[in-house]
Amino acid sequence: MRRILMGLAAAGLLACTGGSGSTLPASADSGTTGTADSGAPAIADSGSDPGAGADPGTDTPATLDTLSPADVPSPEDTGGPTCLTLPKPTGAAVTLKKGPYLQSPTSTAMTIAFEADKKAKVEGQVGVWRKGDKCLLALKTTAPTEMDVTLGMNGIPVEPVDGYLHAVTFDGLLPETAYEYAVVIGGTASSTASFRTAPTLTGGPFTIGLFGDNRTYADAHKLVVGEMAKFAPDVFVNTGDALATGGSLPDWDGFFAIEGDLLKQAPLMPAFGNHEAFLGQAYYAGYWHLPNAYDVTELNYAWAYGRSYWIVLDSNDTPSGERLAWIEQELVKASKYPYRFLAFHHPMYTFSNHLPAASIRKVLKPLLEKYGVSAVMNGHNHCYERFEVDGIHYIVTGGGGAPLYGINDNVVTAEKDLRKVAKKVHHFLIGEFTKDQATFKVHDVDNDMVIDTFTLLPKPIAP
Ligand SMILES: [Fe+2]
Repeated sequence: MRRILMGLAAAGLLACTGGSGSTLPASADSGTTGTADSGAPAIADSGSDPGAGADPGTDTPATLDTLSPADVPSPEDTGGPTCLTLPKPTGAAVTLKKGPYLQSPTSTAMTIAFEADKKAKVEGQVGVWRKGDKCLLALKTTAPTEMDVTLGMNGIPVEPVDGYLHAVTFDGLLPETAYEYAVVIGGTASSTASFRTAPTLTGGPFTIGLFGDNRTYADAHKLVVGEMAKFAPDVFVNTGDALATGGSLPDWDGFFAIEGDLLKQAPLMPAFGNHEAFLGQAYYAGYWHLPNAYDVTELNYAWAYGRSYWIVLDSNDTPSGERLAWIEQELVKASKYPYRFLAFHHPMYTFSNHLPAASIRKVLKPLLEKYGVSAVMNGHNHCYERFEVDGIHYIVTGGGGAPLYGINDNVVTAEKDLRKVAKKVHHFLIGEFTKDQATFKVHDVDNDMVIDTFTLLPKPIAP
């Protein structure tokens, strides 16, 4: 919950921008690298020996990281005190238990979050700099915050997190621009990671990854995430059931262990599945920082990315009343964008293990057609399906790691021609957005092949 966890003071100083003349070694790969060995003394020398960093190609994620001096903005040869740099880690080492990870991307902002060891109730420092620059663009302080564990099912608190949460939003960034960042807390610094800000509504191309139902089988989950990461999506969407039990802390630990590398370089926009709902919303609400939310725990929210607009819903019950009115308000906003999506867990169309969500279909279908939605992204059934119904694509992407389901269960004869593709495979989607079209390719990781391609054309913009 970003509103609660927003960091404290911001130095936010625009210092020098070294640009093309930088003598820093390139750190293009640093978003997925670092040093596995804590090797704490390395950072202490960062200002004087920029070539002494550990090999950035030997990192193991989710461990105590140490900044590679070669990656970090340095005051060396940059104009001295006018160059804003990361502070030197001091004091006891602090384990970064989760993250840093990215959230809530826009064309001018990014939220950076992490979980630090409970033994250290200390502020963190997050520095952001333009890729290639020698000096930080901004340095912000984060406050250690305890997760609200009272959001368990039926008011029963979940297990307290053995750590402090930190989150801070950097704004005033430039669209479609590569930035790097790192965290310093106590005697520890994270490895350097990178991200790219979103395009504006009239901006350039971008890539969105998409999958769902990653729960239960870690090996399959790792495979799907690893293959998706090769496409370096700018942002990725999860259609729900990312883990088996939302109220299980070990499940969240396992999720971050698998997706941590990708989360460092691409923000995740998740949907709240039925498995996230098991034992309550506390961890979901605590770890995720989602924009433009309808509800305080951010189960229903909306976001724009370049030429696309996304409305994400909690489909564990059928929208009605004020929530349905909010959805229509968001659809009005979406109609100003050429590509319009809904993402939620329970599929409106499917022939597989679970029946389609008939009540949601009844409520939403007229609205989706009224506002010219491009596609609806669902999960819940552990397979890939694509339907085309009255000009809208309905996708089931539930092949992210959970046990696969059959694709011909519960076929409704009268609707069977609506389904264009169905495969019982682990998979993910990559959507490439340009001014002229958005092309989605569906990658089957079991057989290393593309099993479906579909193209969305821009919708006329509502007046
Ligand atoms: Fe599900």
